[in-house]
Amino acid sequence: MSTLLQINTSARAAGQANRLADDFVQAWHNQHPQDRIILRDLTRHPVPHLDERTLNAFFTPPEQRDADLQAAVRLSDELIAELQAADVVAIGVPMYNFGIPSTLKAYFDHIARAGITFRYTSNGPEGLLKGKRAIILAARGGIYSGTLMDTQSAYLRDFLAFVGITEVEFVYAEGLAKGDEAASKARLHAAARIAELSAI
Ligand SMILES: Cc1cc2nc3c(=O)[nH]c(=O)nc-3n(C[C@H](O)[C@H](O)[C@H](O)COP(=O)(O)O)c2cc1C
Repeated sequence: MSTLLQINTSARAAGQANRLADDFVQAWHNQHPQDRIILRDLTRHPVPHLDERTLNAFFTPPEQRDADLQAAVRLSDELIAELQAADVVAIGVPMYNFGIPSTLKAYFDHIARAGITFRYTSNGPEGLLKGKRAIILAARGGIYSGTLMDTQSAYLRDFLAFVGITEVEFVYAEGLAKGDEAASKARLHAAARIAELSAI
């Protein structure tokens, strides 16, 4: 039995990226009915921006944290434990203002922890979240994949590799703001890719 972690990051609950992530999870469930599914819903429960107290907690060794710093690190510890338990991570990612949603960036800031999810070695950084697969369900108004304007995909690949997740696949639903015909084509394209990836 594997564990699939779904991460929703759209600003709206019924956002297209959330819906694509739902579609992937449903397809996965159909193929792997015994698997455990966990939802981290950043739409309804966004994590806060990093602040001074949280960073102080990150950089204080556990045995030296007082009660306040222990409380400050709790959410990050919980998010990391959830990720460590996952074999597959499906992230719904809308493009907002040429980047990832700030909800997802805030989440990444909580799960990138030196000594826990990555470490520095004499050969450079090493990601510690190994053996996982990530599926990015990307919803976009325009069409950017394969062009230099798609900094979102490169960033996601780089960040996930930094924490050790090197097997990353993308499902794109692009051109959603380019009229009904383009939007239905994009949805069909995404549905076919979801069917392909959920069957592996
Ligand atoms: C605040 C905001 C910013 C957006 N910025 C972009 C953008 O930079 N490029 C783009 O192609 N689409 C942009 N869009 C369109 C969204 O990517 C598209 O509608 C996508 O489906 C949104 O996903 P969601 O429904 O999950 O929020 C933007 C939409 C919103 C609401």
